Amino acid sequence: MLLFDTHAHYDDDAFAPDRAEVLSALPAAGVALVVDPGCDAASSRAAVALAEQFPHVYAAVGLHPENCHGAGDAELEEIRRLCGHKKVVAIGEIGLDYYWQENPPRDFQREIFRRQLALAGELRLPVIVHDRDAHGDALAIVADYLEVRGVFHCFSGSPEMAAELLKRGWFLGFDGPITYKNARRAPEVAAITPLERMLVETDSPYLAPVPCRGKRNDSRNLPYIVETLARWKGISPEELARCTCENGKRLFGLE
Ligand code: NI
Repeated sequence: MLLFDTHAHYDDDAFAPDRAEVLSALPAAGVALVVDPGCDAASSRAAVALAEQFPHVYAAVGLHPENCHGAGDAELEEIRRLCGHKKVVAIGEIGLDYYWQENPPRDFQREIFRRQLALAGELRLPVIVHDRDAHGDALAIVADYLEVRGVFHCFSGSPEMAAELLKRGWFLGFDGPITYKNARRAPEVAAITPLERMLVETDSPYLAPVPCRGKRNDSRNLPYIVETLARWKGISPEELARCTCENGKRLFGLE
């Protein structure tokens, strides 16, 4: 079973003690490809450095809504510059996060999100969108950039929102929370999402799936997500892994 983890933060401090060891172990564990999305300028540079070091790692670069405090022209120019790197395959992780009180003001998040969507349109790159408790605004804003496509990472919206995004050509990301007991909407969303628009992601080091919930996550836990989603879709894990791997390659332009 060959897997593509389209969202894992190996530049995160949680991997400081053993980053190279974990990343080197992935191909033998069946994880053939990884996309590491940056969250600010420094972590985007770190993601690119990992992509340079490991053949199976690709980078996305961007300013995450939780990490965009004080960002301006200089940071956005840095993201633009990094987009020229041959292993940068997307702009992300970008979006809106209305969950945490201490996040940057919502209007500022929206401005930074819009500027990065405009950049993606200009550079013809896909985007990786983070949308937490901001479904209405996220859906409305991406509608203003009709030429831009990508993935709603760890999708947590309603089936209606999923249907709208699918109609517009977006991919939906499925993560560890689909294995949690309280996952109610996820099976409904999975039911209406065609196989060819699904991606599987770990969001490592966060969101470890059951039975690893609460521990540090890494891409070797992706099979738990694949197995859950395959069961819901009534296909084998191998078939689901194959399809999501192809989808990731298609979205991010990999051969
Ligand atoms: Ni993430």
